[in-house]
Amino acid sequence: MNIEALFQKFAGIYGESKTEKTEVYFAPGRVNLIGEHTDYNGGFVFPCALDFGTFLAIRKNNTGTLRLASINFEQRGEISLNKSFTKIGDAWFNYPVGVVDQFYKNNKTIEGCDFLYSGDIPNGAGLSSSASIEVVTAFALNSMFNLGFDLLTLVKLSQKAENQFIGVNCGIMDQFAVTFGAENKAIFLNCATLDYELVPLVMNGHKLIISNTNKRRGLADSKYNERRGECETAVEKLSKAGKIENLSQLDYPSFIKIIDIIGDDTVARRAKHVISENQRAMDAVNALKANDLITFGRLMNESHDSLRDDYEVTGIELDTLVEEARKIPGVPGSRMTGAGFGGCTVSLVSENAINDFIDNVGKNYYKRTGLTADFYIAGVGAGVHKVE
Ligand code: GLA
Repeated sequence: MNIEALFQKFAGIYGESKTEKTEVYFAPGRVNLIGEHTDYNGGFVFPCALDFGTFLAIRKNNTGTLRLASINFEQRGEISLNKSFTKIGDAWFNYPVGVVDQFYKNNKTIEGCDFLYSGDIPNGAGLSSSASIEVVTAFALNSMFNLGFDLLTLVKLSQKAENQFIGVNCGIMDQFAVTFGAENKAIFLNCATLDYELVPLVMNGHKLIISNTNKRRGLADSKYNERRGECETAVEKLSKAGKIENLSQLDYPSFIKIIDIIGDDTVARRAKHVISENQRAMDAVNALKANDLITFGRLMNESHDSLRDDYEVTGIELDTLVEEARKIPGVPGSRMTGAGFGGCTVSLVSENAINDFIDNVGKNYYKRTGLTADFYIAGVGAGVHKVE
C-alpha cells in the first residue's frame, strides 16, 4: 500500500483535522518454517516475518468512540469507550476491539480514535493476518497514549485478545513473530521460556515460496481447539510415568519407551507429532546454521508428513501442493505452514527452478483439485514499527 494513498483515503473517510496528527504503523504477516503445533506444547518454533502485512493509519478524534474502517472490508465499526466491549458476530474489527478490551482489563484507558487499516495478507490463509492486525493495533495505541507496555507484554495482550475475545485458543508464535521479526532473519523461539534467537536466513541461491491453496482455513471453527485438547490428554496420560507440564518436556526416545501408557492410538499419534516436530525444529536450525539446506529441506518434508499422518491437519489441497512441489528438481523441501486445514505451504526453491515451480505446481494443482493456487516469493521483513 502506498502511504500517500492511505492518508488520502483516511482524509476521505474522516475528514481533515487541524489539531490531531495522523500516524501510520505497520505489522507484518509471518510464515513458519518449521515447528508446527509445538507452540502451545511448550516447544520450539522457527517462523519469520514477511515483507507484507497490515498498515494502520490512526488519529485521535476526541469523541470517546473508536471508529474503525478498512480498505479490505466494507463493514465499519463505531464502538463507545464508555461501556464494556463485546464481540460483534464475525466482524473484522473484533480483532482491534479485542486488543482495546485487553488494555482496559489491564487498567489502561485510551481516548477515541479513528482507524483505517489496509492489509495485503490474504485472510484465512495461515499467514497470520489476525495477529498482524492485533499487534499493529496494540503497538500503535501503546505508542500514541504512552501506555508503557514493553513489546513482550504487547505480544501477550494480543494473544489474549485472540484467546478471550475472538475465542481461538492459539499459541504465542504468530503474535511473537510479527512483533520480533527482523529482515532476513528467522526467529528460533522457545515457547516455554520465550527466549529467542534471530538466525540469519542464508539461502545459498534459494527462495522461500509460499503457495496458497485458496481453500479458506477458518481457524476458529476448525479442529485447532480439538488438537489442543488431545495434547492435554496426552500430557495427563504420560504424566503417569513421571509428571510433565507439557509434551516438549519429553525427548523422542524417552517418549517412545512409554507411548503405550497413552492407551489411545489417535492421542498417541498427536503426541508423537509434537515431540518429533520439536526435535526437527532444533535440527533444522542447526542445519541452517551449518549452511546445509538439503538437510533443512528434508526436515521440512518430514514435518509435513508428520502433520499429515499423525497430527492430521493437512487435507487434500495442502497435500497436493506439497506433492507437486516435491516433483520439481531444485526443491529441497516443502510443507504446510500455520494451523493447517487449508491455507498455505512453504517451499524451499532453488532460484533457477522458480519459474518451473510456479508453472507446473500451479498447473498440476488445478488439474487435481480444480482450484487455482497463488504463489508469493516471500521476502523476510521487520517486525511491527511506526512508519515515519
Ligand atoms: C496457528 C496458531 C499458532 C500455532 C500454529 C500452528 O497459526 O495461531 O499459535 O499454534 O497455528 O503451529
